[in-house]
Amino acid sequence: MASRSRRSVLAVPGSNPRFIEKARGLEVDAFFLDLEDAVAPLEKESARRTVVAALREGGWGERIRTVRVNDLASPWTYRDVIAVVEGAGSELDCLVLPKVTGADQVRWLDLLLTQIERATGLPVGRIGIEAQIEDARGLSAVDEIAAASPRLESLVFGPADFMASMNMKTLVVGEQPPGYDVGDAYHYVLMRILTAARAHGLQAIDGPYLQIRDVEAFRRSADRTAALGFDGKWVLHPAQVAAANEAYAPTQEDYDHAELILDAYEHATTVERRGAVMLGDEMLDEASRKMALVVAAKGRAAGL
Ligand code: GLV
Ligand code: MG
Repeated sequence: MASRSRRSVLAVPGSNPRFIEKARGLEVDAFFLDLEDAVAPLEKESARRTVVAALREGGWGERIRTVRVNDLASPWTYRDVIAVVEGAGSELDCLVLPKVTGADQVRWLDLLLTQIERATGLPVGRIGIEAQIEDARGLSAVDEIAAASPRLESLVFGPADFMASMNMKTLVVGEQPPGYDVGDAYHYVLMRILTAARAHGLQAIDGPYLQIRDVEAFRRSADRTAALGFDGKWVLHPAQVAAANEAYAPTQEDYDHAELILDAYEHATTVERRGAVMLGDEMLDEASRKMALVVAAKGRAAGL
């Protein structure tokens, strides 16, 4: 699996230099400069220039540098890709392709990237792809999408577009639709995306929570997808950053315990030649080791 940590992925409107400047100071694992839905149609072209300048200017530290291009039903996508990669390809880690409806769209982006890399002397294949799953077609094709390119690093749930595409009877993005009181309305969608991601060694990222002043509600939403296994979540506001970084990392206690399990099991299998041992009141076997490995890897990536 792609090992770069993406607990918090900051959305930054690509047409707004003030927000771009602010983003440089936030403790996020990743950010994307948006050319899609946070940019008005009349600003699309100038936003490309702003985004290229921001990448070239640097100052992004260890953060994963990403740009979201427009979706392939728009007239802008190919020029977005060419402008950003020709202009700042060496300062770019990934492109986000929104509203992906099928594997062909990811393959298109892979090929276009390869051409631009060849033409400009960039290393071929270094720039990754993140695919947003945001409607019924994308979800139906999610397994093929996840398998479409070795450049893929993550699948990203897009709740706002998804809710619109399903005609859900609600206006609060990321929250349960009122009236559906028998369970989690997103469970199927989230598990489908997560399963496709895991089957192909990709990360699974949860989308935005738009009520930006309600940090506790954001935290609840992040905790839920973190519990399922998601790797991170989009953040729209500085107030959401710490909550995301916490939610998608193990607690110090769980991390310490995971390291203890790994040590105990290593000792048991090599020195004692046993496949199952007790650690306190807990029985450990090979599957316990695998679970501990996941927690330990996330903890180490988070610097615990
Ligand atoms: C994000 O793009 C969303 O539609 O929620
Ligand atoms: Mg969207």
